[in-house]
Amino acid sequence: DRGGYRHFMLKEIMEQPQVVAGALRGRVNFDAGRVELPDFPFLEDEIRDFRRVVLTGCGTSLHAAHVGRYLIERFAGLPAEVESASEYRYREPFLDSDTLVVAISQSGETADTIAAMQDAKERGARLLSICNSEESQAARLADGSLYMGCGMEIGVASTKTFIASVTILFLLGIYLGQARARLSPEVRRDLIADLASTPRLIGEMLADVSQYKVLAQKFSGYNSFLYLGRGINSAIALEGALKLKEVSYIHAEGYPAGEMKHGPIALIDRNMATLALAPRDRLYDKMAGNIKEVKARRGIVLGVLTEGDTELAAEVDDTLFLPTAPEHLYPLLATVPLQLLAYYIALDRGCDVDQPRNLAKSVTVE
Ligand code: M6R
Repeated sequence: DRGGYRHFMLKEIMEQPQVVAGALRGRVNFDAGRVELPDFPFLEDEIRDFRRVVLTGCGTSLHAAHVGRYLIERFAGLPAEVESASEYRYREPFLDSDTLVVAISQSGETADTIAAMQDAKERGARLLSICNSEESQAARLADGSLYMGCGMEIGVASTKTFIASVTILFLLGIYLGQARARLSPEVRRDLIADLASTPRLIGEMLADVSQYKVLAQKFSGYNSFLYLGRGINSAIALEGALKLKEVSYIHAEGYPAGEMKHGPIALIDRNMATLALAPRDRLYDKMAGNIKEVKARRGIVLGVLTEGDTELAAEVDDTLFLPTAPEHLYPLLATVPLQLLAYYIALDRGCDVDQPRNLAKSVTVE
């Protein structure tokens, strides 16, 4: 049931305010400023012994892992690494019982992710899964799981399960920080309140999608896109580019903007579209610099900016605005316009949005 929407992808994008609210339900105690994860399989004493965290997954789930790394480093002060499960399983990584491996998988059945989990288990690591299916192999294999609880995702392009994964990773970061006495109750209370405001903010962004139809007409003719972001939003750039390429078949590459000078800038000319994530966060000035460099080479820039940012809006060709929010919410917020842009561009190009060619919802073979 597409719930009155033309495609499952759009329906699932529209469900995201409820998905975030659902991922928080029963996991936050506002009064005490505490994250509570009843399903977390390790005791506080064990958490204090963790020396590092390795996050793994494939595709969109791998991008969620990238976001998670920033959140865990920031909130828990633990070394965190990201590994693509399809590579990790063939490596000989050092893992021991002081390492928490977090495997992210919507389906819980992705062959490479399962193999990486099996390997981690054999090496004695502690294993947590973040998945959407309680009946999955990932759930069975892990020491414990944090479930996305967002209902079945039917569109092949992952949307709501990405938002759910990132929300849970946010909670996990705070939870690990809390157990390791890294975050004061006041800071935790603020973070939790910020998270709780996210469903409303996402809802506001979803209220009017008319601008995407106009932008889609303008941008659907480009053959190539660069998606740029910095810091935690570089992971959102990767995910935004994946969404565009899989549903619209336009070549799109996500790049950390600081790498531009080291090669990709050679691609810039008036036929190259660049989507630049430049919300008002700690790296805003750096992104503004990157945007100017692209414009100086006649690139076409679609800026994803914070509302009211008239200054940078004047530099770019087109804009999508995010509501003003604490900086750590921008990855969650910026995900939404990138999904909508990919959807409407694909629609404009007449693509089969829910079932893109060559792709399967669950990749159970290598
Ligand atoms: O079920 P999983 O999260 O393990 O799937 C991993 C990838 O195949 C998946 O995220 C894929 O990249 C997305 N469907 C793309 O939108």
